[in-house]
Amino acid sequence: MHVSSMGASKLCFLFSLALCALLLLIPTLQPSQHQGDLPRPRAHNKPARHPGRLVTGSEGDFLHRTGGLKDIFIAVKTTRKYHKSRLDLLFQTWVSKAKEQTFIFTDGEDQELRRRAGANVINTNCSAAHTRQALCCKMSVEYDKFIESQRKWFCHMDDDNYVIVPSLLKLLSSYHHTQDVYLGRPSLDHPIEAAERVKSDGSVSVKFWFATGGAGFCISRGLALKMSPWASLGNFISTAEKIRLPDDCTMGYIIEALLEVTLTHTHLFHSHLENLQRLPTDTVLEQVTLSYGGFENRRNVISIGGAFSLVEDPSRFKTVHCLLYPETDWCPSMGHH
Ligand SMILES: *[C@@H]1O[C@H](CO)[C@@H](O)[C@H](O)[C@H]1NC(C)=O
Repeated sequence: MHVSSMGASKLCFLFSLALCALLLLIPTLQPSQHQGDLPRPRAHNKPARHPGRLVTGSEGDFLHRTGGLKDIFIAVKTTRKYHKSRLDLLFQTWVSKAKEQTFIFTDGEDQELRRRAGANVINTNCSAAHTRQALCCKMSVEYDKFIESQRKWFCHMDDDNYVIVPSLLKLLSSYHHTQDVYLGRPSLDHPIEAAERVKSDGSVSVKFWFATGGAGFCISRGLALKMSPWASLGNFISTAEKIRLPDDCTMGYIIEALLEVTLTHTHLFHSHLENLQRLPTDTVLEQVTLSYGGFENRRNVISIGGAFSLVEDPSRFKTVHCLLYPETDWCPSMGHH
């Protein structure tokens, strides 16, 4: 006890000495800092950073300020073999609430899907393989189509995500699209470390956070435009090849490591990689994205009761949808007949 507290005060003393030395050095350092393009110090108060937070962040305010939903570009990444089993459920549920905003990025022509979603289906011509190259190819097309769209927010989703549209609007209303905003769920509890092969030769490593793609993430237009040198017109694929990381990691790399913009960590986004049963039932409708997984082995779904049984609605998406929009024609009217 005594020894450790003595050690601590010694450390404090050394630290103040170092600080004094640093303070003395600052005047001599300043001129070079102004001339050179030294990297800016990183913000350490990550969770407290809310760029562009408005005083009142209600959905109505957002609708008034920006037009709301119409300013969002929601990209749903899928593959030909999931058009029936996964996309049908999405069209029946949340996509019906954001038809003009949702764009399906797939890898094969499908007349039925085309009839259903028209120009909102984008055949990326990327490979259907679940490889890094194919996934990065799709992300690259998503990015280019978003830039082309002139919309204010880019939100990437997977085909096993349910998007709670009112929650998404509410979340985005706290930020401004001209600022650097990167919102998502960190997939790990520590930053990832990778060799720096874009700005240097790979002999140094960089640490950065990234939003896990399976839970969905959003990027402001302001930030997306800055990403252009490493993300537009196929550059995303070459950036990912250089660092040999998957699509969502590459996003984090460009934003955090190259542009020095921090990921705003949010736990309102959910992927099938987490234990969804643990999500408290009374908070489900406040989340921004949900997911499901593991039908074959161990079922991993959110625990919520309502209109449908687990057999009728294994993903729980229909149940969630009927709680959010009870007036939907296929939702059983609860309470009265
Ligand atoms: C995919 O190929 C078709 C046919 O060549 C083309 O019309 C379409 O624009 C391509 N898609 C993309 C995203 O480049």
